[in-house]
Amino acid sequence: MTKQSGIQRALLININSADSRSLEKAFLACCPATEIIKAPGVRQGLDILQQEKVDAVFIDYVLSVTGINFLKEIKQRRIHAPAVVIVEKGKELEAAEAIKEGAYDYLIRDAGYKDSLPGVLERIRSTSKMIRETEEEQERRELLFNQIYKSQKWWQHIIDAIKDYVFVIDNNYRILRTNKAFAGLFGKEPADIIMKPYYELFGLHEPHEWCVVSKEKEKVCPGSVERKLSGIVYLISCFPISYDQHDAVVYTMKDVTETRRLKDQIYHLDKLSSLGTLTSGVAHEINNPLTGIIGYTEMLLMDDRDETTKKYLRNVYDSAIRCKKIVENMLTFSRQTTAQKSPENVNEIIDKTIELHEYWLKSTNIEIIRNYGVVPYIDVDRQQMQQVALNLLINAEHAISETDKRGRIEFKTVYDKAAKNIVITVSDNGAGIAPEILPRIFDPFFTTKPVNIGTGLGLSIAHGIITEQGGAIEAKSEAGTGTAFIITLPKND
Ligand SMILES: Nc1ncnc2c1ncn2[C@@H]1O[C@H](COP(=O)(O)OP(=O)(O)OP(=O)(O)O)[C@@H](O)[C@H]1O
Ligand SMILES: [Mg+2]
Repeated sequence: MTKQSGIQRALLININSADSRSLEKAFLACCPATEIIKAPGVRQGLDILQQEKVDAVFIDYVLSVTGINFLKEIKQRRIHAPAVVIVEKGKELEAAEAIKEGAYDYLIRDAGYKDSLPGVLERIRSTSKMIRETEEEQERRELLFNQIYKSQKWWQHIIDAIKDYVFVIDNNYRILRTNKAFAGLFGKEPADIIMKPYYELFGLHEPHEWCVVSKEKEKVCPGSVERKLSGIVYLISCFPISYDQHDAVVYTMKDVTETRRLKDQIYHLDKLSSLGTLTSGVAHEINNPLTGIIGYTEMLLMDDRDETTKKYLRNVYDSAIRCKKIVENMLTFSRQTTAQKSPENVNEIIDKTIELHEYWLKSTNIEIIRNYGVVPYIDVDRQQMQQVALNLLINAEHAISETDKRGRIEFKTVYDKAAKNIVITVSDNGAGIAPEILPRIFDPFFTTKPVNIGTGLGLSIAHGIITEQGGAIEAKSEAGTGTAFIITLPKND
């Protein structure tokens, strides 16, 4: 037995001084570096074992009941120090009993322990080495497990932080991994949808036509496609990968509904602006010959003519006047006229517009409700604002004439102090607008009226004037109930 016996500290419990001396001597002979601690009784011994690391315990087994209690106690307290009992010669049965109770080994009390101690210590050393190795292996496994667990958590945190939808599917279209956003789309947690076929979540019985999973399809993997699913436009990208030696595909889905809407709007505005340029050019070209037609017809009408010729000439004149109005509308639409702005009260502008039209309104038995709030003066072009109010008023009248209800048109104004906006609402109880045509009503030349009644420019002109003013106009309508146009005008400081 050498210094490297691994028994650095030994505890002697309840051992009389003569025995203790001979045991210490034996220790000195085989492993002089071992520190010997002594406890006079079992209680003190247990206290030491509880607080300090001890490699071996030697207990005098002279009172076997005390010895057995000690062995039971260390078992209960989960103290792992190997206990060696010291028994009288001839009382080996007590030793066997002690071993049954958990003692590690025994020594026979005699004049010296020189011969037997080294063997006992060697056994303790090799057993504790084995235990240590098992413990180390256990620790290593725990460490590895923690590392894997942590990296898994870290990975999940990262993909959960991505607000786009991310999921990985296998050859059978089952979800292998996913992030919170994608699971949340179906009101679930990622763990709830793992190994579920992704298309079932979308309420389908088979995969979408854009979905590819195998590597062979890599060439046809579309990269990025835009698809509409349940009314939402998604930009879907896919990346084929190998997962656990199997083919898998990472999918990301981005909600691009708003971007798509803005893109469409820009495209539409672009179209409108080229239409505006074209319109103004054509309108100018038509204006001159039209002035000629009107002038000459007027001259011809002044001469003395038979009734039939006069009737035809009047028709020419009326049609030319109507053309002129259309041309004027087209010019306003393309906003070739520059706005003349001055501080105005929108209540007064609306009132003046209604007044100019009142006679006609009375004859059609339409009730006008003036619901004006206190509004600040704002810089607007009076003529243009009158035109907006008039266009909305005429549209409302027309919508009412399509029903047999008693007509009611309300002009309501409010000042939203917090937003610094004047909000004008023009509502009627007319025929209303069908949902499928509602998105088109501000389009130039869009009309549902007969050819010689509407040009489809009224609302696009109103839209142009209001947006040039920095405001907004929108319509809310329910077919059969009525329509409301809401104008928001900013109060510029
Ligand atoms: N208050 C309303 N109620 C129901 N439908 C409306 C109302 N206002 C507008 N519309 C619908 O929107 C369409 C476009 O209106 P807009 O004022 O631009 O053109 P229009 O009235 O048809 O022709 P124009 O005003 O050039 O004489 C109308 O044809 C009508 O179908
Ligand atoms: Mg109109």
